[in-house]
Amino acid sequence: MDATTPLTGRSTIEQWLASPVGGPLLRGLLEQGGIDESSLAPARQLPLANLVEASRGRFTQEVVDQLVRGANGGELVEEEAPAPTAQRFTGRTTVVTGAGSGIGRVTARRILTEGGRVIALDINAGALAELAAAHPEGTVVPVTADVTTAEGIDAVLAATDGPVHGLANVAGITDGHRPLHETDDDVWGRVMAVNVDGPFRLMRALVPGMLEEGGGAIVNVASEASLRGSAAGTAYTVSKHAVVGLTRSAAFLYAPQGIRVNAVAPGPVATGIEGTFASEFSRARLGPFLQMIPPVTDADTLASSIAWLLSDDARNVSGVILPSDGGWSVQ
Ligand SMILES: NC(=O)c1ccc[n+]([C@@H]2O[C@H](COP(=O)([O-])OP(=O)(O)OC[C@H]3O[C@@H](n4cnc5c(N)ncnc54)[C@H](O)[C@@H]3O)[C@@H](O)[C@H]2O)c1
Repeated sequence: MDATTPLTGRSTIEQWLASPVGGPLLRGLLEQGGIDESSLAPARQLPLANLVEASRGRFTQEVVDQLVRGANGGELVEEEAPAPTAQRFTGRTTVVTGAGSGIGRVTARRILTEGGRVIALDINAGALAELAAAHPEGTVVPVTADVTTAEGIDAVLAATDGPVHGLANVAGITDGHRPLHETDDDVWGRVMAVNVDGPFRLMRALVPGMLEEGGGAIVNVASEASLRGSAAGTAYTVSKHAVVGLTRSAAFLYAPQGIRVNAVAPGPVATGIEGTFASEFSRARLGPFLQMIPPVTDADTLASSIAWLLSDDARNVSGVILPSDGGWSVQ
C-alpha cells in the first residue's frame, strides 16, 4: 500500500497504524476507550471493519465510518470486494448452518457469489433476512430454526424442493473455556447439542437424499480444539473431537456412494463468537499457550477452505480434517 492509496474499512489494522494520517486517528480512539494498542496485535492483519463483528458491538460501524472519513478529508471512501474468480456452485443447492454470522455467513455468501443456491439456517431471523436481501430473489432460502431441535431439522427438509448437493455444518458455540471441574450440566449439554447433535442430525436427514442422487459434499466445522487439549475448555474440546469422529466415520461409510465428508479446523477467526474466559483457572492455564498462536484471521479466509472442500476442486478429498489456522497445528 503506497501513501496515495486511501485508507478504508478494508485496509488492515496494521496499515491503519502505519499510516501517518490513520495511525494517530486510530490511536486517539483507542486511548479514548482506554484500550491498549498492543491488545490489537493478534488482529493486525485483519481489515479494520472486521472489528465490528469481532468486538461484539463495542467497536461500531459508525466508528469505522468516522475513522475512514477522518483519514480521507471527510469522504467515506469504500473499497469494492474482489469479484469471485470461479462459479463452482452453479446449479447446486447447499445447506449452510450458522449462516447468520461469522464463518457461516461468509461461506453462504461465497457459495451465492459463485452461482449457488443456499438453504440458510440460523436462530437469528434478522441476519438471515439481511443475507437474503443482499442476493437475487430465491437464491437464499432462509430457515429460522434451532439446529438442536427436531423441528429445526424438519424445517430444513421442508425447505428443500429438490436435491441437496452440499451441507456445511458451521453453527457452533463455545464453553467460556471452562475446565472440566467448572463445567455444569447445562453448559455441557448445550455445547454438545449445538456442536455435535445438530451436525449429526442434519447429516442423518440429508445423507439419504445424497445417496439417491449418487453423491454430495459435506463439510463440518471442527476447531483447533479438535486437534489438541490446550485450545479451549473441556466441553468445547470434547465436542470438536466428536466432530472429527462424525466426519471420519461418515467419510468411510459413504465413500463408495460418492459422498465426500471433510472438516475444517479453524484457528482463531474474528467473528461474533463468544471468546471470553468464564474461568480464572483456565485463564491461568490456557492463557500463556494462547499468547503464542498465529494471528487472528477473517471469516472470508475460512470460507475459502470450506468452499474448496465443498467444491469439485476437492473431488479426490474425503475424510480429511483440514487445519485452516495459519500453521497453529504444527506448533
Ligand atoms: N471464530 C473462531 O475463532 C473459531 C475457531 C474455531 C472454530 N470455530 C467454529 O466455527 C463455527 C462458526 O463460528 P463463528 O466463529 O462463525 O461464530 P458466530 O457466533 O459468529 O456464528 C455462529 C452462528 O451460529 C448460529 N447458531 C448458534 N447456535 C445455533 C443453533 N442452535 N441453531 C442454529 N444456529 C445457531 C448463531 O446464531 C450464529 O449466527 C463454530 O462451529 C465454531 O465452533 C470458530
